[in-house]
Amino acid sequence: MRLDRFLSESTEMTRGLAKRALLRGEVTVNGQLEKKAARHVQSDDCVTWLGEALEPVGLRYIMLNKPGGVECTARRELYPRVVDLLDVAKPERLHSVGRLDVDSTGLILITDDGQWSHRITAPSRHCPKVYRATLARPLEGAGAQRAIRAFAEGVELQGDKTPTLPARLECLDPYQVRLTIQEGRYHQVRRMLAAIGNHVEALHREAVGDLPLDETLAPGEWRELEASEVALF
Ligand code: URA
Repeated sequence: MRLDRFLSESTEMTRGLAKRALLRGEVTVNGQLEKKAARHVQSDDCVTWLGEALEPVGLRYIMLNKPGGVECTARRELYPRVVDLLDVAKPERLHSVGRLDVDSTGLILITDDGQWSHRITAPSRHCPKVYRATLARPLEGAGAQRAIRAFAEGVELQGDKTPTLPARLECLDPYQVRLTIQEGRYHQVRRMLAAIGNHVEALHREAVGDLPLDETLAPGEWRELEASEVALF
């Protein structure tokens, strides 16, 4: 990797500021003063800036138990953003993998690896997402059976051109359902339950693909993924 890029990835400097630091003679590579931004460095080169050895910030993969009242947006608008809950270097490089509504809670993945997040969110991949919804009205008996069949076949959502892909509905108790969907349409779970005349009071994401939310994470807590968890996608 070019030295100016290495500097911008391992410090708070932009590429432009890194070039200026190089010209001011603040950077060494393997003990030698280096001023060339285009110089290539490898992982075993020792780069220092102002006498301090630098480590590159690698790609990051994080799971957060999203609390309510937090947005999955890049720019801060009305509410704090999910990246504001993370105490990490260069949070502006991170993005959430798909979105949860501001009121929804549970598993949100956050990364700076665009290819990895694309593998999870690309519509062609049909990556399943598992939600637990608390309902305003009881769903049981024949109504529950009709809903299970309707969701398995696909339902029409207002304003959408095509019905939803087959989704699996499990009725946990009259007010709690688990819904597994393979798409990520706008407000999809809330709209699917509205399509059968119900209303979602609370929505919690339990899993994305084969990755469940780590139940030891309290709302607002996060951890880095294990290599085996990253490799699931
Ligand atoms: N479906 C919704 O309606 N809301 C979410 O946050 C996620 C899926």
